Formats: sequence, structure tokens, C-alpha cells
Amino acid sequence: MRRRLAAGNWKMNGSRAALAEVAALVAAHPAPTCDVLLCPPATHIVWMSEVTSGSPIDVGGQDCHPNASGAHTGDIAAAMLKDAGASHVILGHSERRADHGETDDLIRAKAETAIAAGLTPVICLGETLAQRDAGETLAVVGRQLAGSVPDSAGARTIIAYEPVWAIGTGRTPTLEQIAEVHAFLRGGLRQRFGAAAEGMRLLYGGSVKPENAGQIFAVPDVDGALVGGASLKAADFGAIITALEAPDAT
Ligand code: PGA
Repeated sequence: MRRRLAAGNWKMNGSRAALAEVAALVAAHPAPTCDVLLCPPATHIVWMSEVTSGSPIDVGGQDCHPNASGAHTGDIAAAMLKDAGASHVILGHSERRADHGETDDLIRAKAETAIAAGLTPVICLGETLAQRDAGETLAVVGRQLAGSVPDSAGARTIIAYEPVWAIGTGRTPTLEQIAEVHAFLRGGLRQRFGAAAEGMRLLYGGSVKPENAGQIFAVPDVDGALVGGASLKAADFGAIITALEAPDAT
């Protein structure tokens, strides 16, 4: 039985003052029956870790460098995220794939480094609208799964299916479309990782909100969500946590 996960991605949003939302979340959800993770900008990991200290809420980064250390101005090493209080790191988000030209090979290298540093990677993949319209969704996510997930991945590794066209748009796939991709990804993980695949959580991401969370979480093989916009407000993210705690969510 996989423990479900509500993961928040603040992207390049938030401020020190916004950590009041995290304090409110900690107060409102002292003992969630799902895992909860928040990934603020790297500058705010230490502060957020202070706010979540003593609570079950985990803190993560949004990216790391593939190298362990060295002359890479402006970059952040996995071990530094860990040092700052992070336990997880989002890798291969479509915004990084698009804005920084990140390839599956690079994302796999980053994931290897993150795992070696003791971080749990949240590896993102998903098709563009053009790829979906061309009927290429499963081929694309299959390629990304094969290329972005390292052999060193284990039961703790988390995969997030995020259709690019659903991110920040208010549009979501149908429940059937989500079910199809998640079943396909689970099958791919089983083929490659055997028994460990049963522990690997598959998150859905893209315009998850309090209003649609319950339906999405009832889809087989959806083990939680990666939430962008709705993770910035304690009330919204808290409602998503509550939906994930409901017994009929898978
Ligand atoms: P969104 O972002 O919830 O704002 O659509 C999801 C994500 O990019 O992780």
C-alpha cells in the first residue's frame, strides 16, 4: 500500500512573508494521514524548514545540478539542498525542460546525484498539447520515463505525470486520460524495477484544485498530486490534503 502524497511546487513564487501560509497549514493539519511536501524556491528552504520543524510536512527543492559540487556559478548541489533542510527535489519539471532545455539524459544525471545525496527525487514528465493531439502521449511519456529515471531509482522515487497543457491553464485531462497514462507508467515501472515499482508513487499534476482533487485521487494508480498554484494558499492546499485523506481516494 503506497502512502499518498500531496506535493506543492511554489515555482518562482512566494516570499518570507508567505511562510505564514505554511504556518497556517501546519496548524490546520498537525497529523495528516497522507505525506505532505512543499517545494519553495531554494532561497526559502531554510526558513520553510524552520516553520515545518516538528511537523510531518517535508520540504524539497525544485532543481539541482548533476555534479556533486564544483565551478557552476548560480547552481545548487543536491547535498546543499539536503543541508538546508530538504528531503526531496523536483527534477525535470516541464518548465525547466522548456526554459533551460533540460533533456532526459540531464534529468537522469540529476536524479542519480540527488539519490546519492540522500534526496528523494520527484521526476516530472508529460506530453505537450501537440503531442497529445498527434496521439503520441504514451510514446512520449514512455520515452521520458525510460530516459529520465535512473537505474538507481528505488521504491522511494516519485514520478509526476504532468501534461504540459494542463499546467497553470485550468484545463485538466479527463479521468480516463489520467487513468490510461498512470496505468501505462505503472506498467513501465513494473517492467523495469520489479517489486520496487509497487512502492513508487505516481503523482498527477496540472491544475489540481480543491474542486477537482477528490475525483482525480479516486483514479486508480494516482498516488497523490503535484500542485502548483493551489499550493500557495494554506486553505487550498489544505483542502487538497483533506481530499487525499478521504478513504475512497486510491
Ligand atoms: P499548476 O502547476 O497546479 O499551477 O497547474 C502544477 C505544476 O506545474 O507542478
